[in-house]
Parts: sequence; structure tokens; C-alpha cells
Amino acid sequence: VQFQIPIVQAPMAGGPSTPALAAAVCEAGGFGFLAAGYRSAEDVREEIADLRARTSRPFGVNVFMPPAAAADPETVEAYARRLAPLAEQMGVDLGEPRFDDDEFEAKCVLLVEVAPAVVSFTFGCPEEGLVDELHAVGAEVWGTVTDPGEAVIAARAGADALVVQGAEGGGHRGSFVDRPERIDYGLLALLQLVRGEVELPLIASGGIATGAGIAAVLAAGAAAAQLGTAFMLCPEAATSPAHKQALTSTRPTGLTRAFSGRLARGIVNRLQREHSAAAPLAYPQVNHLTSPLRAHGRKVGDEDVINLWAGEAHALAEARPAAEVVAKLDEEARRALGAAADQWSAKG
Ligand SMILES: Cc1cc2nc3c(=O)[nH]c(=O)nc-3n(C[C@H](O)[C@H](O)[C@H](O)COP(=O)(O)O)c2cc1C
Repeated sequence: VQFQIPIVQAPMAGGPSTPALAAAVCEAGGFGFLAAGYRSAEDVREEIADLRARTSRPFGVNVFMPPAAAADPETVEAYARRLAPLAEQMGVDLGEPRFDDDEFEAKCVLLVEVAPAVVSFTFGCPEEGLVDELHAVGAEVWGTVTDPGEAVIAARAGADALVVQGAEGGGHRGSFVDRPERIDYGLLALLQLVRGEVELPLIASGGIATGAGIAAVLAAGAAAAQLGTAFMLCPEAATSPAHKQALTSTRPTGLTRAFSGRLARGIVNRLQREHSAAAPLAYPQVNHLTSPLRAHGRKVGDEDVINLWAGEAHALAEARPAAEVVAKLDEEARRALGAAADQWSAKG
């Protein structure tokens, strides 16, 4: 992809991502994304048609790789028992903790058919056969990586670019496999380590909220910056009101499996505080289990039980149209890059 402005609007499944948001970013010269996660393939088809009706510019669609193996049902049951009093207090039934692949195959067939400019994957690496099929219809394939080893695997599978996701970022870690023992690389360390292993274009993601932040990752060798949280307050994003409210605070974020059974960063709230330590690695079962609780929280505006996904720099997000966000970041990044270059040459 040739970026007009090297700003990518991160795919944000579970609400925030909309065709209106992606279209506004694309029309402003950035690169917009749709999030295929948690939706049916038919919904994704409709969203792509909606986006194409709004813009003729290129965009990406993000897909979740399916989980490899189901967690032990006992551990999921134990966690369900633990959440039961909270659910009862809220007057909702917990969801059925089913194991599914989020219609992965159907989404792949759809994406080969509709051929967006980019298909990005998270939670794993697509097989070479799928990468070849997408290449054959002219789509680029991006892999999301959170450590240098994943970068090497994605490069070998034929990825055209890597989304390098630092642990500062909001939402789920894109790790190929969620493990109890792991290294939560910060973005700058990870960019340098990945650059040491692969030559692909890198899209830096995690905790970037200003043009200066974008300038920093470009100086570190990234081809573009992918921002999620910075777009969550835009009127085009379908972020719930309670979530928007929390984002405007300076409250701390933390990594948790309490909502989905997979590690993600969110603003610390009651459910996260009380249940993170006990939450099992059981995605997507735990995600389905807590789904009615989270939906209830969004509906009645009770933030205690909502997964308040947010990156570490969430307090810098601004409630303005996405086009204005892109224009401001563009202008700030240019200034920051110029100032850094001037500062360096003044020293020499
Ligand atoms: C609400 C939310 C939902 C997200 N959903 C997805 C997703 O569906 N697919 C994906 O690859 N990344 C997802 N992410 C992660 C983003 O791609 C990106 O790495 C992250 O937002 C970067 O950090 P930042 O939020 O600090 O900008 C999500 C992030 C947030 C905040």
C-alpha cells in the first residue's frame, strides 16, 4: 500500500469500528479498517458494501485467526461460578461458554471474493495457501505480531507487512498463542527487535496518540502508525457512552483476561479488579460467558462490567470528527519530525 498519510485507523471489533469511521479516515488521506471479529461473514459483507458506497479509496479488513485448542471446560465452569453472583446482582444470565472459530472459513472465502486492499490477521498467522489466494486477487496480507519470533513466522508465511503491536496498546494482544509466561514488549523495544529479524514494512501500533508519537515510530523505521484508542471518541465510532466517559479520564489501564479469556488492555474497573487474578486462558469461551454482562453494562451505562478497552495514552484521545483527528496528527507529525531533525543537525 502506498500511504498518502501514514496513519492507519486500527480495526476495533466489538463496537467502535464502523464503515463511517473507516470512510472518514480514508477520505482524510489515512488508511481505514473494518473489524470482522465477532460478526458473521454476512455482516462483514454488508459493512464492506457500506464502506465502498462511502469511499472509493483503499481500506483494510481485519480477521481473527481461530484459536487452536479449547481450554479445559472445568476451568471455564469454575470461572462461571465465580462470576455468577455478579451476574445475579446485575439481573442477567451468563452466556454459554462455547468454543467457535468466529466463522473464519466463511470470512476468508468472502475476503478472497471482495478483495479489499489489505487483509490483516490477528491472534495467529495465516497459512501460505490463504496468503497466496489473497495475493492472487490483489490483496496485501498484514500479520499482527507481538514478539520477534512471531515476526519471523509471519514473514515466512508471505506477509507483505507486519503490524508490530506493543503492550501499551488497547484491546487484545495479537499474540499467536496466549501464554501464561510471556514478554509484554513495549512498542519501541519491539520495533527494534523485529527490524533486526525481518525487512518487511512495519506498521507500529500501541499507545500512539499524537503526531509526535507517530514521528517517533517513523524515526524508528516504521512505514506507518496504527492508532486505535485515538479514534474511539470520534462521532463516527460506535463506542458506547460509558466507555467514552472512561476514556476521557486519566484512570490507569491494565492487562486482563477477565472479560474474554485472552489478554487485553483496558481501563481498570470493578470486574477487571475483582476477577483478573482468577481468569483462565479460555478464549473465546470466557468471551461468550461474559457477553450478556458486558451488553447489559453498555445498555444501562454501568461501566463496572464493561470491557473498557483502551491504550495507555487514552487520556489524549479527542472527541472530534475522524477527519480532524487525521489532519491534526498529520500536521503535528510533520512538525515533530522537522523539529527532531533540526535539533539533531544543530548538535552536529
Ligand atoms: C476497542 C479496541 C478494539 C480492538 N479490536 C481489534 C481488532 O478487532 N483487531 C485487531 O487486530 N486489533 C484490535 N485492537 C488493537 C488495535 O489494532 C491496536 O493494536 C491498538 O488499538 C493500538 O493501541 P492504541 O489503542 O493505544 O492506539 C483493538 C483495540 C481497541 C482499543
